[in-house]
Amino acid sequence: MNDVIIRTENALKTYGRGPAATHALRGVSLAIPRGSFTCIVGPSGHGKSTLMHLLGGLDRPTSGSVEVDGIELTDLANSALASLRSQKIGFVFQFFNLLRHLTTVENVETAMMFTGLSEKQQAARARELLAQVGLSEKANAKPSELSGGQQQRVAIARALANDPEILMMDEPTGNLDSVAEAEILDLLLELQGQGKTLVMVTHNLEIARRAQHLIEVRDGRLCQAA
Ligand SMILES: Nc1ncnc2c1ncn2[C@@H]1O[C@H](COP(=O)(O)OP(=O)(O)OP(=O)(O)O)[C@@H](O)[C@H]1O
Ligand SMILES: [Mg+2]
Repeated sequence: MNDVIIRTENALKTYGRGPAATHALRGVSLAIPRGSFTCIVGPSGHGKSTLMHLLGGLDRPTSGSVEVDGIELTDLANSALASLRSQKIGFVFQFFNLLRHLTTVENVETAMMFTGLSEKQQAARARELLAQVGLSEKANAKPSELSGGQQQRVAIARALANDPEILMMDEPTGNLDSVAEAEILDLLLELQGQGKTLVMVTHNLEIARRAQHLIEVRDGRLCQAA
């Protein structure tokens, strides 16, 4: 098995054209080890989210290559890219992106819509995932009835729905107090122990310190890893 799970070669991302163009990434080459906890750090506006979106196939580079598990993403049609994403990668976004009108268990089920599982199987799997993140008793609560840390756990349960090998998170502890943050970090390290690769954008240096692999982005380029 290849011990690099994600690789980029000179990945470049420019938004817009001409004088209005923003050079968000100016040529990034990196390799993320399989099973690692990797943190992406750097100042605001310097390209961290853009990089995470390229690594997860949510967006395509303007030039250069991105490879996930040996598959070159730039060669894939949109439908094949979407299918690779849903099989291999779970995403957790900064503001959780939970659907307000759905219960906790229904929010987790939304990630399984295209998996071919029956409704009953989806519900069972969703409850299993909620148990895994310690939220069984909140299955029927709406997001507005949950704390920030609990909502974050729902977002993580949803990201795990299809048992992805890679979990990508953009500032997952951005809105949490230090206790909730420590709980999420414990949960993430437990998932790493189960073999998942974690890629996290964070401003939190305490968390970044726990990562085995640090990627620092400045002005669209990588700095020497600290
Ligand atoms: N969809 C877009 N269209 C145009 N410009 C964009 C787009 N997304 C990001 N940018 C620009 O690209 C640059 C990098 O943005 P990015 O979101 O990657 O930064 P970031 O490091 O994640 O910042 P933050 O820490 O504030 O989240 C910024 O100048 C931003 O304004
Ligand atoms: Mg960002």
